[in-house]
Amino acid sequence: MKQLFEFFEDKPVASVLDIGTGSGDFIDLLAHIFPGAQLIGIDPDGTVLSQARQKLPQENIQFRQMEAQHLGFPGNTFDVIAVSNALHHLPSPEMSFAEMKRVVKPSGWILISELVCDNLTPAQENQKLFHHLRSRIDRLNGIFHRETFSRQEIFGMVTACELTVKHHFEFSQWPQPETRPAELQFWKDKMQTNLKRAEGFAEYEELAARAKLFEQQISESGFQPAINLVILAQK
Ligand SMILES: C[S@@+](CC[C@H](N)C(=O)[O-])C[C@H]1O[C@@H](n2cnc3c(N)ncnc32)[C@H](O)[C@@H]1O
Repeated sequence: MKQLFEFFEDKPVASVLDIGTGSGDFIDLLAHIFPGAQLIGIDPDGTVLSQARQKLPQENIQFRQMEAQHLGFPGNTFDVIAVSNALHHLPSPEMSFAEMKRVVKPSGWILISELVCDNLTPAQENQKLFHHLRSRIDRLNGIFHRETFSRQEIFGMVTACELTVKHHFEFSQWPQPETRPAELQFWKDKMQTNLKRAEGFAEYEELAARAKLFEQQISESGFQPAINLVILAQK
């Protein structure tokens, strides 16, 4: 994401917190953007944190098991707080934003990068269909996972907690849709694996019909991750 390298080029950043860090993909990017900084990634899921620790053993990157809505840090601690593709996993975005605002320094930055659900190409709509079906199956299995938000909803959350948007842009993780049959088969297989987790629920037939629709649609228009909206805000 070259825009982030350019944005932070002239800004001194010594401490970074990554919320919902998962297995560490985004904090890895942050470590490249802020090579001299101390970074902490937090996530409530101990399994993904173990994967992140194995992947990123550098001394300047630490991981802690924690929830966004209860951040165990004093106020005004971090120069940058990032939350990447995790907003729609948070049971209380309001409490989480209040916590981020508390622990970011007065001159610090809150960096949000989140998949959006509106104004997508057909190939991006297919990824949304995949993702929304998976989130529905997660919910059936008792895992908190919303559908993705619209651009307006994300801006609304930022402004509702009185953060000021200073910069924003959009980017696509893959420049072109994937259309190769072997690669599309990977997503079809992944959908079937997800669908298996819905077996035994009353919704199974409806979900299976949507999975079939997904298979048809990716054969017609390919598969491409939805657009990410990136927002840089200050308190
Ligand atoms: C899709 S992953 C995003 C991973 C990473 N940020 C990235 O961009 O690759 C969403 C993560 O949010 C985490 N999560 C779920 N509930 C959370 C909470 N209450 N506080 C912080 N993170 C949470 C999940 O465990 C999961 O690892």
